[in-house]
Amino acid sequence: MGICSSTCKMLRRVKYVFLLLLTLSVLAWFSMFSGGSVKSALAPSAATKAVIKRDSMQDEANSGTSKVVRLITPTPIVECPKESPLLQGAVRLNFEPSLKLKEVEVENNQVTEGRYQPSSCTARQSVAILIPHRSRERHLLYLLYHLHPFLQRQQLHYAVYVIQQAGNATFNRAKLLNVGYLEALKDYRWDCFIFHDVDLVPENDKNLYICDKQPKHLVVGRNATGYKLHYKGYFGGVTAMKREQFRKVNGFANTYWGWGGEDDDLRIRVELQKMKIVRPPADLARYTMVFHKRDSGNEVNKDRMKLLRRTTLVWRKDGLNSCKYQTISVDRLPLYINVTVDIGKP
Ligand code: BGC
Repeated sequence: MGICSSTCKMLRRVKYVFLLLLTLSVLAWFSMFSGGSVKSALAPSAATKAVIKRDSMQDEANSGTSKVVRLITPTPIVECPKESPLLQGAVRLNFEPSLKLKEVEVENNQVTEGRYQPSSCTARQSVAILIPHRSRERHLLYLLYHLHPFLQRQQLHYAVYVIQQAGNATFNRAKLLNVGYLEALKDYRWDCFIFHDVDLVPENDKNLYICDKQPKHLVVGRNATGYKLHYKGYFGGVTAMKREQFRKVNGFANTYWGWGGEDDDLRIRVELQKMKIVRPPADLARYTMVFHKRDSGNEVNKDRMKLLRRTTLVWRKDGLNSCKYQTISVDRLPLYINVTVDIGKP
């Protein structure tokens, strides 16, 4: 009985091993020919697949071959430090006559369709840089050349929008900036907007392109004015306002055609809302103005004083809420989003 039971046990074990092997080979055969559930049970999960895909796309992005992936790159969890370790302070500006757009693109290959975000930390603010423009290609090139690395050293999530006025009607900087604000918000809920003249290049990267609790004026001094504040209430050149601050003042007036006045008008709007303009220290808020002659189509606006006298009466109905325009095209170029717009005429 004892011998028989041990033989039986052995036979039973052999039988189990045989059955196990049989099951495994059936499964293997099934998975090879069906391509169905067995295969998928052994395959990576959807989540794993997404990670693999993301990683390989990231590799592609880093090698500079992909243009889309930056926008789907997951945001890192760690917040960027208050003061970026990449800042250099005063930087030497370079206005090399032979500079080409392609070179600026190559040097900024982490920028995709005008947009960038740091890969090692989450930026503290998302900032849209709005540049009104018409026929100033050279100035734009110098600005892009300096501004992209400057903003990256500040560890910002940002995008550059160039708003081009179509046609030959008198230039209207303020209305173009209203258009830029409205168009940029179609892409992303930016926290902060920088209204930036095309011919002003920042000299010190500690002049931070972020918004404060109050509207901020970034050009305390420029070479053309001996690095002194132009006049007490000056609020032109480069200014930074939070999305809500700009909304609260109803944006810029749309009615300033030609040079001058629109920035003073914005200051009045800000003051009417009991906000106070703040400025960074004068040794940081320094700009070089790229020399140019007055553009044709942007003559001094002789009516500007008259317009400024009625700001308190009209700001509620002349501004973002009455900004009518026709978008002709939105081109997502490597270094900026080019919005060409018909804003009408005076
Ligand atoms: C104009 C402003 C301009 C400033 C500085 C003022 O007279 O009204 O629009 O920014 O001069 O040039």
